[in-house]
Amino acid sequence: MPRKVIIDCDPGQDDAVALFLAMASPGELDILGVTTVAGNVPLALTQRNARMMCDIAGRRDMRVFAGCERPLRRDPITAEYIHGATGIDGVDVFEPETPLQEQHAVDFIVDTLRNEVSVTLIPTGPMTNFAAAIEREPSILESVEQIVSMGGAMREGGNRSPSAEFNILADPHAAEIVYDCGRPVTAMGLDVTHRVLSTRERVARIRELGNDVAMATAGMLSFFHRYDTKKYGSEGAPLHDPCTVAWLLEPGLFETRRCNVSVETESELTIGHTAVDFWHVTDRPHNVDWAYTVDADGFYDLLVERVARFGD
Ligand code: BDR
Ligand code: CA
Repeated sequence: MPRKVIIDCDPGQDDAVALFLAMASPGELDILGVTTVAGNVPLALTQRNARMMCDIAGRRDMRVFAGCERPLRRDPITAEYIHGATGIDGVDVFEPETPLQEQHAVDFIVDTLRNEVSVTLIPTGPMTNFAAAIEREPSILESVEQIVSMGGAMREGGNRSPSAEFNILADPHAAEIVYDCGRPVTAMGLDVTHRVLSTRERVARIRELGNDVAMATAGMLSFFHRYDTKKYGSEGAPLHDPCTVAWLLEPGLFETRRCNVSVETESELTIGHTAVDFWHVTDRPHNVDWAYTVDADGFYDLLVERVARFGD
């Protein structure tokens, strides 16, 4: 039986690739809905971009919802300087046929978790929607089997401030609620995503597949390449968000360690920092499985194999 999932995202090129990877994997993942949130770009664009990806993947049957327009308690931040004005620069923007559902994403999450059991939540943006759902109706947590998130950093430091990774900085209060919700949380932070580099050779492998999803993926990763390779001086840009889906499909690609992860929500200097107690030097409860190694070649083999399916 495929695992029931809700993907909560802010596309974002890497969110888009996470959606493709999930849509390519119906044997393992039953996508109950895609919920969108303000993050990399404002909500009006993230919901449109998610629907575009469903069109490109030939999945106009997917249910896409728009959620929170702003973080729980802070002013919104965006990241056009990385993702481009559209959030998905690298593909040509069009008005998608995949409809936007009328229901608010938070209502959809609450309703779904009231009526389903064993649902896995995959947040690849600021965790505002899931946190708002938990705050509104804490009993829904009984239906959450697993949460696998992209966010945070330990050894890598921050990518949006010296201390903080973008998704956690964008809504640290939401991240704190999700990490501390009492359900199993696996976190893919920059410590692993910065190893999953979209080198020219890897992007070329994807482009050679030639199908619509492959061309869109290659286009978006090439756009990412320009900015991030300059910033990090690496051979390719990190591919963050698909690590969540890859972990669900092939957990052996990653090593994780159960420990406490606490989010800084007060300090002006370090707000959004994830304090990862990797060596268990405190007695704080172990709330997160923190990913700390990844087999990057294995990850790209998986991605290529799954993107190839869209040509069938
Ligand atoms: C995260 O922030 C966004 O820019 C990406 O989509 C990813 O979710 C990486 O820090
Ligand atoms: Ca994202």
